Amino acid sequence: MKYKELIEKMTLEEKASLMSGKDYWKSNDIERLGISSMFLADGSHGIRKQTKSSDKIGLNKGDPSTCFPTAATISNSWNEELAERIGEYLGAEAVAQKINVLLGPAINMKRNPLCGRNFEYFSEDPYLAGKLAAGYIRGIQSNGISACVKHFAVNNQEERRMAIDTIIDERTLREIYLTAFEIAVKEGKTKSLMSSYNKVNGTYANENMHLMRDILRNEWGFEGCVITDWGGSNDRIEGLIAGNELEMPSTGGETNKEIVQAIKDGKLKEEVLDKCVDRLLDLIFSTEEALNESYTNIDVERHHRVAQRVAEESIVLLKNEDNILPIRPSKKVAVVGDFAKEARYQGAGSSIVNPTILDNTLDCFEQSGIVSIGYEQGFNRYGKRDSKKVEKACELAKKADVVLLYIGLDEYVEVEGLDRSTMGIPENQVELLNAIYEVNQNIVAIISCGCALEMPWINKVKGLLHGHLAGQAGARSILRVLSGDVNPSGKLAETYPIKYEDTPSYNNFPGKEVSVEYREGPYIGYRYYDTVDKKVLFPFGYGLSYTTFEYSDIEVKEDAVSFNLKNSGSVAGMEIAQLYVGCKSNKIFRPKKELKGFAKVFINAGETKRVKIYFDDKTFRYFNVKTNKWEVEASEYEIMIGASSADIRLVDSIYIEGTGAELPYDKDKLPSYYSGRICNVNLGEFENLMGRKIPVSTWSRRQTLGYNDTIAQCKYAIGIPARLVYYIMVFMHWFLTKIGERSKANIMVMSIFNLPFRGVSRMTGGVVNMAMVDGMLMIANGHFFNGVAKLIREKSKLVRSKRSK
Ligand code: BGC
Repeated sequence: MKYKELIEKMTLEEKASLMSGKDYWKSNDIERLGISSMFLADGSHGIRKQTKSSDKIGLNKGDPSTCFPTAATISNSWNEELAERIGEYLGAEAVAQKINVLLGPAINMKRNPLCGRNFEYFSEDPYLAGKLAAGYIRGIQSNGISACVKHFAVNNQEERRMAIDTIIDERTLREIYLTAFEIAVKEGKTKSLMSSYNKVNGTYANENMHLMRDILRNEWGFEGCVITDWGGSNDRIEGLIAGNELEMPSTGGETNKEIVQAIKDGKLKEEVLDKCVDRLLDLIFSTEEALNESYTNIDVERHHRVAQRVAEESIVLLKNEDNILPIRPSKKVAVVGDFAKEARYQGAGSSIVNPTILDNTLDCFEQSGIVSIGYEQGFNRYGKRDSKKVEKACELAKKADVVLLYIGLDEYVEVEGLDRSTMGIPENQVELLNAIYEVNQNIVAIISCGCALEMPWINKVKGLLHGHLAGQAGARSILRVLSGDVNPSGKLAETYPIKYEDTPSYNNFPGKEVSVEYREGPYIGYRYYDTVDKKVLFPFGYGLSYTTFEYSDIEVKEDAVSFNLKNSGSVAGMEIAQLYVGCKSNKIFRPKKELKGFAKVFINAGETKRVKIYFDDKTFRYFNVKTNKWEVEASEYEIMIGASSADIRLVDSIYIEGTGAELPYDKDKLPSYYSGRICNVNLGEFENLMGRKIPVSTWSRRQTLGYNDTIAQCKYAIGIPARLVYYIMVFMHWFLTKIGERSKANIMVMSIFNLPFRGVSRMTGGVVNMAMVDGMLMIANGHFFNGVAKLIREKSKLVRSKRSK
C-alpha cells in the first residue's frame, strides 16, 4: 500500500468517513492528517460546477464554462486526436475551477435509438467509442486531474435506470458493452470510473464482483477508484467488498457507520477497507497536486474557437442532391425555423453546461457570406401547431432561391432520466416542411438533435446537414459548412434505421418492470442490419463531402492493411476510411462485419496518400464462453476497407491461426443467432444463449415493496395511501404535460417516479435516513399508522442526534 503509514494513523471512523461524500459534490476530508476533500463535477462536454445551489438534474446553473459539442456530435469526427484536444481543454477548465475529478466521458453503447441519453454517448460501436473515450481521458488527465469514465456498465436506457436488471449473455457483455470501457481503462488509463445504477444479471453493477473484481481489476488491471453514480449505492458493504471506494453524494454519515459496524461484526475485513482508502488517497493527492500548482486563467474566446473547430469536424452532410451545397454567394436564401434563432446545442440533465458564449445562427449570418433575404420562425419549438407561422414562412420561401430550414428536437425530448417516445421530429415541423415544399423545392434541412431520427420526409429536401448538438459555437460551425468555408468530414457513429420497428432491440426495449433482456445478443446497430441485409436510411460510418475519394491498391500483411486514398474532387477534404473484419467460418455466430480500425486523413485535391491501419489485439478476437477467455478462431478473415459500413471499397483476406479453443456453442440450439435474425428470439433460445434460466421480468400484482422497488411500483402496493400517491403522480404528470410544463413533468418521472425507495435516503444527504424509509415502506405495505409513527419517531431521533453534535 502506497499510504500505509498515513492509514495507520487513522481511526476506523476516519477511514470509513472517506468512503462517502461530504456533500453533493465533495468527498470527505480529514483535517488533522492533511487530507483535503476533492471536488467532483460533471461532465461530459463541459464543466458543470454548481457553487451555489446543487441539484442532480441541472436545474440550477453551474458556473460558466465552455460548452463543447456533446459526445454524439464529436463521435462523428472519428478523430482520436481531436478527442484528446477537447479533453485537454476540458481538463484545463476543470483545473481552473479547482475540480479534482471530472465526471466523464460517458461511453455507454447506443443499443436503442430512443435512449434519452444517447446525446451524451458516442456510438453503437465499442471500438469507436472506446478509442474516442481514451482520447478524452488522456487529454483531461494531461492536466493532472482525473477523468471518470461512466456508467459502468450496461446502462443503455433511462427507463427505471436505478432499478432495472439487465439480462445479458457473457459474450455480448464482453464484446459489445465492455469493450469501450476496456479501451478507456487500458489505453486511456482513467484514474476513476463511475459504476452505473442498474443491475447486471441480478446484481447491482456497483456490487457485481464479476464486473468489478474479475474483469475491471483482475483482467484489465484497473488500479484507480470506483465512484458510485449519484445515489446509486445499494448495499454499502457489498459495494465496498466489490471495490467501490467512494459513494456519492453524502449520506449524512449513515453508511460510514454501517462500514464501522460491519468491521466490528467481522462482516468486513479491515484490510479491504484499507485498500480502498489507499486508492482513494492516491486519487486525492495526485489530483490535488495539479490544483495546487497554479491558477490558470481561461481564455474564454480561445476555448470558444476550439469548440467551433471541433464542431466543424463533426458535422455530417447526409444529402446533397444537385450539389445544392455549398451555397453560392449569388443565391438568395430564406432562413426558416426556430432553431436558427435560438440554437439547440446540448442535452438536458446532469451534463448541462452554462456556456460562456452562445452563437446563434441569425447573429452569425452576416459573416458567413450567405445572402439572407429574411427569417421566419415557421413553427413553435414545443410542438404547438400555428398555421400563421407556416403561411409567413411560405411567403418568404417563395421569394428565395434556397430555403435553409432549421429543424430538430427541443430540449425536453433528449434528457437524462427519460427515454424518447418516438424517433420522429414533431408533427408541426413536418407540416411546415410539407408546406414549404409546395412553394419552393430547394430546401436544405439543418438538424439539431443528438440522436438518430426517422425521416419519412427526406425526399422533400435536397440538402441535409446533421449538426447534432454542436455546442456553444455550433451555429457558426454549421454556417461555415453551408457556405463551403469548411468541407464537411463527419461520418455517422450510429445507424439510422428507416423506421424504429427495424431496430434490433425493438421488441426488448426498455424491457418489462423488473428486467430488460438483451435478446438480440451482439447484433447491435450495423452488426445486425448488415448481417441480415436490412435496408437502412443512413448506414453506420456514412457521411458526404464536397469532394470525392477513390480507394485502391489494398495490401494485407500480418500486422496491418494498407491502401491508397485519392482525393479525386476539386477541393481539399478529409476522409474517414474504415476497417471492417468478417470471419469466413460459420462455426461461431458473428455479425457479418465489425469495425476494427479507422483512419481520418486530410488530402488535397488531386493528391493520393498511402494509408496504413494496424491490426491490434481486438482485430480477430471473440469471447469464448466455454473457456471464459478471449480466443481467436482459426479461419480465413475478410479484410474490408469502407467509406461506410455499407460502402465497402476494397476487400482482401488473410488466414489467421487460431488459439485452438473448443467451440462454445451448440449451433442447433441457437438458430436465430446463427442467422442473425434476432428480432424475435424466444425465451428458450435466449436461455440457451445465456446458459441458464431467466428470472421473471414482470411485477406481480399486489406485492410487498422493499428498498429497491421504485416509487412507481406503488401502483401495486398493498397500502391504499401508496396507491393513491401513485395515481396522484400519474395525474400530475398528465396535467403538467397538458399545460405545457414538460420540464416539470420530466423531472417528476426522472427524479421521483423511477427512484427506488432507498434512493429517497441516498439522494437527500442525510435528511431522510434509512430508518425513515422503513417507515415509508410500512405505509406502502399496508401498515399506515405504524408507518407514520415510525416515520415521526425516526425523524425526531435524527433531529436530536444532529442537534447533539
Ligand atoms: C448521472 C451521472 C452524473 C451524476 C452527477 C447522475 O444522475 O447519471 O452521469 O455524473 O448524476 O451529476
